[in-house]
Amino acid sequence: MLYPLIRSALFSLDPEDAHGFTLASLDVAQSLGLLKLLPRARGTPVHVMGIDFPNAVGLAAGLDKSGAHINALAALGFGFIEIGTVTPRPQPGNPKPRMFRLPQAEAIINRMGFNNPGVDVLVKNVKASGYRGVLGINIGKNKDTPNAHAVDDYLACLDAVYAHARYVTVNISSPNTQGLRDLQKDEALDTLLSAIKLRQSELAQQHGKYVPVALKIAPDLDDAQIAAIAALLMMHRIDAVIATNTTVARDSVADLPYADEAGGLSGAPVREASTRVIAALAHHLENEVPIIGVGGILSGADAQEKIDAGASLVQLYSGLIYRGPELVRECVQRLA
Ligand code: FNR
Repeated sequence: MLYPLIRSALFSLDPEDAHGFTLASLDVAQSLGLLKLLPRARGTPVHVMGIDFPNAVGLAAGLDKSGAHINALAALGFGFIEIGTVTPRPQPGNPKPRMFRLPQAEAIINRMGFNNPGVDVLVKNVKASGYRGVLGINIGKNKDTPNAHAVDDYLACLDAVYAHARYVTVNISSPNTQGLRDLQKDEALDTLLSAIKLRQSELAQQHGKYVPVALKIAPDLDDAQIAAIAALLMMHRIDAVIATNTTVARDSVADLPYADEAGGLSGAPVREASTRVIAALAHHLENEVPIIGVGGILSGADAQEKIDAGASLVQLYSGLIYRGPELVRECVQRLA
């Protein structure tokens, strides 16, 4: 009930400042035990990728890129938390401003560009958190690594995070790293997935545990591209697919301030495209590979729409900015 008030204060700040301030405040609230006072919905546990999730609603990647706020975010009632995208080496990301609100459309445009402190710092943060819930770690490549060597970056990250993640997400769908989404194309994807699967089985031997790998894809794919990706997911026995990342399309926001900013659009305007990709994946995958649905969930009904389209789990990002922690409760309750 308080969130609309908090939101108007936060929306008076620059979006990236508001982001940092909110995370810092959540950490303080968490350390004072205040987040325990938030109303919680009783979730229904789900079993996906061989993992028991206390409920089907997770935090999407990008909000906590370095894993510095895991416990505070988990205290909002999520069934799982995905941190990252992290790259092998630290990098600053794109120049600011690089995050824009489009409140009329309940949307965000971002071109952060994988700003992150590097995978070693993320691993330190995860260890320090002592978090025992389901943690996904989302991995990417450094901006200055050419696509020809992208596989090396993903393998370096996989090696570093394997022991600390319940699942690992291979992100090839951010629009803000030049050429990254080319890795979704047939031959490049085949090469990447082969290398990842081989390393996953070596790491499973070495660590005595199997950590599932999910692939995160874009909403800007046609049915032939989705069918080709689905075939590779099945062929390589990838453990899950996350659909979707942000969109480069602007049709539904064309007249709004900031619509011309470069980057990925998220929130309400990506909902339909994301659900369309989930439904197409469900059709092609025939239940062989579970789907995690993300994109434009701003209500419990939106979360249900993803499940109805074929997703087994959902994730939220922009909806949290517009609706606050109440959205987590509403989605958990709706999916219970
Ligand atoms: C993101 N997203 C994202 N995804 C990812 O895999 N790695 C990342 O680093 C980021 N970073 C990021 C930053 C910001 C500011 C936003 C708004 C989004 C994408 C996010 O996880 C999600 O896939 C999309 O935003 C669609 O979901 P929502 O936001 O519509 O719920």
